[in-house]
Amino acid sequence: MAKRIDGKEISSAMLDKVALEVAALKEKHIEPCLAVILVGDNPASQVYVRNKQRACERVGIRSVSHILPAETTQAALLDLIDTLNRDETVHGILCQLPLPEHLDSEQVLLAIAPEKDVDAFHPVNVGKITIGNADLLPCTPAGVMEMLRYEGISPAGKHCVVLGRSNIVGKPMALLLLAANGTVTVCHSKTPDLAAMTRQADILVSAVGRRGLITADMVKPGAVVIDVSINRDENGKLCGDADYDAVSVVASAITPVPGGVGPMTIAMLMRNTVTAAKAQNGIN
Ligand code: GUN
Repeated sequence: MAKRIDGKEISSAMLDKVALEVAALKEKHIEPCLAVILVGDNPASQVYVRNKQRACERVGIRSVSHILPAETTQAALLDLIDTLNRDETVHGILCQLPLPEHLDSEQVLLAIAPEKDVDAFHPVNVGKITIGNADLLPCTPAGVMEMLRYEGISPAGKHCVVLGRSNIVGKPMALLLLAANGTVTVCHSKTPDLAAMTRQADILVSAVGRRGLITADMVKPGAVVIDVSINRDENGKLCGDADYDAVSVVASAITPVPGGVGPMTIAMLMRNTVTAAKAQNGIN
């Protein structure tokens, strides 16, 4: 029976460490501050933003929320980002995605100063991740790496199969696993015979967003299964891509949904905000 990798427990330990770092910075009269921008009224985004505010409160980071109406113009949004870029009391800027259709997300992400880009979505930070010298790591993939480290699971020499190639999860996940000496395969919607690929995985990371995608017969006995997706089942209950109960019989370890990767993402955002605050104050 697989070990359940408890994201709540691991993220809680990480947040305790971040809180200590925040307290040490406050001794130096530096108050780490995260600015969160939310445009429109996407209910999932509202929940994420609320959870981010709560995490800030828990670790002592000042959080400033800019909740803007759905009809906000590109110019107004860029103007706000420019103001936050110049504000020395703000160390991290996060613009919650997805943005309403009429806004150009790429231009918005480019406008955030790379040193304040706590999502690590700016091409400068993506480039640094690619060459392996990034300070700010993408939150969800970094959270997965922390979970593996906490559980004593090293990707080195393992076959890591990543399902999904998004800029937020799949691509940076593959880069971090590669940097940790994994042998990495990235699968996506055009990959033929997905099961043939997943059955080769020692570490299987799924970020597709389709419930029931990963069945027990697709998992190699003893594999580690990291389920990044948050879906809803027919009763409206949260679930991941993997059939948790059946896959648990085959895998050696598995992350639940909820309570797996989700809490880790927010902990990594808190860590990035502290990293950004330190860098902006010449502390390393
Ligand atoms: N929307 C879904 N995930 C994320 C994330 O990690 N960062 C931002 N900014 N928006 C998101």
